[in-house]
Amino acid sequence: MTRTHGSILLADDEEKILKRLGRALRNEGHDVVEAVTASKAQQHLNTQSFDLLVVDNVMPGMTGLELVREMADTMTPAERPQIVMMTAHGTTQLVREAFKLGVEDFLEKPFEVEELLALARRAVARVRLQTERQYLISERDAEFNHYGIVGRSRAMEEIIQRAELVAQTKSTILITGETGTGKEMVARLIHNRSAQRDMPLIKVNCAAIPETLLESELFGHVRGAFTGASLTKRGKFALADGGSILLDEIGTLSTGVQSKLLRVLQEREFEPLGAERTQQVDVRVIAATNRDLRHMVSEGRFQEDLYYRLHVIPIELPPLRERREDVPVLVDHFVAKHRLRTGKRIDGVDDDAAQALQAYDWPGNVRELENTIERAVVLATTPVLTAAAISLLGAAAAPTPGLPSLRLHHNIEWVERETMRRSLAQAGGGKKDAADLMGISQRALSYYLAKYRVD
Ligand SMILES: Nc1ncnc2c1ncn2[C@@H]1O[C@H](COP(=O)(O)OP(=O)(O)OP(=O)(O)O)[C@@H](O)[C@H]1O
Ligand SMILES: [Mg+2]
Repeated sequence: MTRTHGSILLADDEEKILKRLGRALRNEGHDVVEAVTASKAQQHLNTQSFDLLVVDNVMPGMTGLELVREMADTMTPAERPQIVMMTAHGTTQLVREAFKLGVEDFLEKPFEVEELLALARRAVARVRLQTERQYLISERDAEFNHYGIVGRSRAMEEIIQRAELVAQTKSTILITGETGTGKEMVARLIHNRSAQRDMPLIKVNCAAIPETLLESELFGHVRGAFTGASLTKRGKFALADGGSILLDEIGTLSTGVQSKLLRVLQEREFEPLGAERTQQVDVRVIAATNRDLRHMVSEGRFQEDLYYRLHVIPIELPPLRERREDVPVLVDHFVAKHRLRTGKRIDGVDDDAAQALQAYDWPGNVRELENTIERAVVLATTPVLTAAAISLLGAAAAPTPGLPSLRLHHNIEWVERETMRRSLAQAGGGKKDAADLMGISQRALSYYLAKYRVD
């Protein structure tokens, strides 16, 4: 739990000292970036976040104290690293001002390397604690913020209100909406707000399971029920007993399974495949689909009775293009989310980018928006995302005339993996150089390397 190594920015104009301290800190497991001037240090601070800045005061050009003053002006307390200042002859006045500006500690030159290591350990531990605290606060906020569902449009406000309300009942709920509109998020909100929140929410993607297996997946089977059924298996309904079950892509159910589901909804009971005994269950059913079930009923592809059973409480999520007011808040939300994840310093998007994001039609809805922002944050080389940065890669999407065009690539994983591979190749396999090339910390790089199993 106590990870005591962090990312450290070290600034000193004396290269020999810089190298020696850098080596000692690296030996302790820290990621260290070295800067020979305050303005070099400043550049690093602009593109990357650090746990700790160790800065010499007396340097040609900008002094350490001036750098710290600058930081106090331009960075929020959350963005600012811990600061240790090195001085040869610190006057009381200097020390007083430095403390006021947020410097945590002083090292009087000459000092033992051990002293620095101890201070670094303490500073990094302090940052870890703060991060943990922030995480707990954000968890708590998530609870008050409808479990991460963001939106300020009238439509989303009504949906959230409705979801909170029906969470208190045990009614069946049908959530409809295009792909990526947030159906699963709403389902989770409902479960988390229900009296059954401590019981499981079991999710079944009906489209992902072959028709022949789905019945046994949902209702279970006894040994010998069919060829290959060598063991008795409990189905998802049995597992969800007392909690909720999310039946995703319900529009793909075969007629056989539809009938069985109808019976569960009506009688709260079912028989596992090949079983003689009937099982009772107490499960809240939340169904989701991006299809028009009513239309499927009229075509005879979906049972009318089942449709009405599911349709007791419908929740319809509008596509993002019909609630464009949500785009800016979602953009901010995803920028913050992925900034935190990658450890990069990203302040937001510029006006052109905001306009382009607002004008785009988002056929993949919120999921597509999130992927777009995530990719832009990962690849960003400046703290402000421009329209060009957002349109970096991928197939062209039809631009709205007169607006900066947005080119979108849907597969963020591919982009990230490619970026990793190319930077590593360019850096000749050196992780530090590769991280520098991408403007991310070595920690962030390690995260991605592990994620994509790149070596
Ligand atoms: N209102 C929202 N606020 C924050 N994030 C959202 C919102 N809506 C969707 N998302 C994000 O978009 C992604 C897609 O959401 P979700 O999986 O709930 O969509 P879905 O409607 O179930 O899509 P599909 O039909 O493809 O299964 C998720 O990563 C989710 O976190
Ligand atoms: Mg879904």
